[in-house]
Amino acid sequence: RIQGAIFDLDGVLVDTAKYHYLAWKRLAAELGFDFTEKDNEALKGVSRMASLDLLLKAGGLTFCSEKKEELAAKKNAWYVEYLQQITEDEVLDYVTDTLTRLRRLGIGLAIGSASKNTPLILEKTKLAPYFDVIIDGNCTSKAKPDPEVFLLGAKGLGYPGEECMVFEDSEAGILAANAGGMVSIYLGTSSCADADFTISNLSEFWETDIM
Ligand code: BG6
Ligand code: MG
Repeated sequence: RIQGAIFDLDGVLVDTAKYHYLAWKRLAAELGFDFTEKDNEALKGVSRMASLDLLLKAGGLTFCSEKKEELAAKKNAWYVEYLQQITEDEVLDYVTDTLTRLRRLGIGLAIGSASKNTPLILEKTKLAPYFDVIIDGNCTSKAKPDPEVFLLGAKGLGYPGEECMVFEDSEAGILAANAGGMVSIYLGTSSCADADFTISNLSEFWETDIM
């Protein structure tokens, strides 16, 4: 039986994936190459430095680690600048309804995100009070597809992985949930072969028999 729900943040709760993409695209443009939405899929759920490595690979470029730190900081500064203007409007459809309904059913609620900007996003969108546990890029050392972030989430909720479900919009995140023994639910319009379930938005969750 499902006792806990762990939500990825970017692209699941909040429409921030587009700002990550804009900032990476801007960095690529500055480095002299084009970075498409299709290229961007592989970066979803991936940590900041690992994303930079993928981006540089797509552009056929290599840099020393010092220069890479500088590039990652530059991307993040742009991203944070975009985040300044976000509000509750950026919370995705059916999110607050779903959280409220799960809470009423007695399900523990956690966030499991790779982002170090999680506190800022939660403050801007006023989502923090919905959650019992928040695990983000500031308290993890291994990036998705490693299950660390979700295992810490399950532990914080007090349930084994098998009693938790994970909502994700990235391949890396689905693999992390599977590795943690959790029920993996992919949110997206395309399909994700590794996910236990695929839904195109959170309202569809309520039409499944997952719980
Ligand atoms: C994930 C995003 O949630 O967080 C990735 O899907 C992002 O795109 C990663 O790179 C790290 O985020 P941040 O905000 O710490 O750079
Ligand atoms: Mg995501």
